[in-house]
Amino acid sequence: MCGIVGMVGHSPVAPLIVDALKRLEYRGYDSAGLATIEAGQLVRRRAEGKLINLEKRLREEPLGGTIGIGHTRWATHGVPNETNAHPHFSKDVAIVHNGIIENFAELREELTREGYEFASQTDTEVVAHLISRELARGAEPQHAAFNALKRLKGAFALAIMFRGDEDLIVGARNGPPLAVGHGEGEMYVGSDAIALAPFTDSITYLEDGDWVVVRRSGMQIYDMNGAPVDRKRQQSVGISFLVDKGNHRHFMEKEIHEQPEVISHTLAHYLDFTEGRTKSFDMPFDFGRIERLAISACGTAYLAGLIGKYWFERYARLPVDIDIASEFRYREMPLPKNSAALFVSQSGETADTLASLRYCRTEGVPIGAIVNVRESTIARESDGVFPTLAGPEIGVASTKAFTCQLSVLASLCLRAASERGHISREEEKRLVHELSEAPRFATQALKLGDQIEKVARELSQVHDVLYLGRDTSYPLAMEGALKLKEISYIHAEGYAAGELKHGPIALIDESMPVIVIAPHDRIFEKTVSNMQEVAARGGKIILITDEQGAARSMIKTLETIVMPEVPEFIAPIVYALPVQMLAYYTATIMGTDVDQPRNLAKSVTVE
Ligand code: F6R
Repeated sequence: MCGIVGMVGHSPVAPLIVDALKRLEYRGYDSAGLATIEAGQLVRRRAEGKLINLEKRLREEPLGGTIGIGHTRWATHGVPNETNAHPHFSKDVAIVHNGIIENFAELREELTREGYEFASQTDTEVVAHLISRELARGAEPQHAAFNALKRLKGAFALAIMFRGDEDLIVGARNGPPLAVGHGEGEMYVGSDAIALAPFTDSITYLEDGDWVVVRRSGMQIYDMNGAPVDRKRQQSVGISFLVDKGNHRHFMEKEIHEQPEVISHTLAHYLDFTEGRTKSFDMPFDFGRIERLAISACGTAYLAGLIGKYWFERYARLPVDIDIASEFRYREMPLPKNSAALFVSQSGETADTLASLRYCRTEGVPIGAIVNVRESTIARESDGVFPTLAGPEIGVASTKAFTCQLSVLASLCLRAASERGHISREEEKRLVHELSEAPRFATQALKLGDQIEKVARELSQVHDVLYLGRDTSYPLAMEGALKLKEISYIHAEGYAAGELKHGPIALIDESMPVIVIAPHDRIFEKTVSNMQEVAARGGKIILITDEQGAARSMIKTLETIVMPEVPEFIAPIVYALPVQMLAYYTATIMGTDVDQPRNLAKSVTVE
């Protein structure tokens, strides 16, 4: 995680770098800093906490200079204080880093033995000292950087600046992304194209092992052997958006409310509503031929994949293995020849998901990716990309990306079902029609805000919450618990309702709210039995169901949230909304930082 940016420009760069860092703050907000070269000297300002603190520092003590590097941090090594904030200096070198230097301990020992003094507890500072040592040995700046890079193990995106050269930034990438932006007599580097959007939409992405020499007049990329390489210059699409909350209090609220529209855009990309079938889009594999599908992702994206598993297996009779990417990447799963792999990621940069993708590459299976950021590394390394048309998601807790991932998975499931001959034409038409109604039902769900807020007041008083669901509502129960804990810091767990009696039921007493997600479907009665078990032990039930479910449950609840009656196929897409709203309102009542919850970051580029 962490966001990095660098500029060689004409005017003072400090305000521009701060602007770029604002667009990168989703990557981490433990501290922020920037360095420039002013009157020939490396100078910097750093501040603990959010960017707003750095802005305050800069107002008190502004920085001049037309070259600079900046950083917003998600702490890995060393507490999030000002000393550990980037940029780090070593004599004539300033550096910002995203990633983890895995061999930093041995490098630190080696450099300490040679008399280098460390000011911070970070892994990054070793890189600054390594480069300094190369300079002291007589290497030119860019060669000093290259020599130092050869010593590094781990994941890094770096931007390096040198006292004495106001026309040089060296960038490097091994793992986390780094983009070079081309301007008019100015050049930029940044963690992503969004950071550079106000300055340029002309972007070149570094590949793993690449490093780059950036000057005002242009840039040259080299590979890990030091040989010049050409990388495509491309026009960045759809990112010149304004980072704006509109009339909403938080980005998360705005993004929850955008769902009817973005679900609709996403579905329309894959489905022909008039014909009642999936559109013809390029596929990296043939659903009619594969016998297994491996899905892998992290967090909320993993839970979307888990719902996808239920769909693929039920409607397309396609067996799916689903794994959390951080497990999959090391578990050495054999992938049969006639299988394919599918990765789900909003950012397209999640380190574990990317590593899993690369594992599948070595196994030789075709790879598809459902991503929101089309220019991301996961998108670029896949054989086929299935975009979610959610638009930029700024709130750290994923909402609209999740329902758009579900929309893509549902569309792919229909395509698989039809190509594998498991649904009739009539059934396909019916299911496409059902999906077409998801945005309308999502709009209706948004109207339940007042009632959900009332429930949130109860939740804001408790320490633990259980979520229960069966079938596709089971992953949704886990998603509800994840959403609640990440933004309200209330402990929550999601369980398969039938699993309750195998352990978690011991937790139930009069103080335990149990949120049951139970649309009236073919297994509704089973979930009712589990609710009875909770009620018998005094648990406070909050039931999310529809009118039929409310009428038939016959159980006293603390609150019953009555959703529109929706077809079973699309229920997880529509029921995601009250689940998200419940977490959102609870967190706002508790006064937590909803868009930037503690300890989290939007793009997780370290493992
Ligand atoms: C939770 C959340 C995370 C992400 C996870 C994967 O609200 O946002 O759990 O889903 O970090 O991120 P992506 O989708 O970018 O791979």
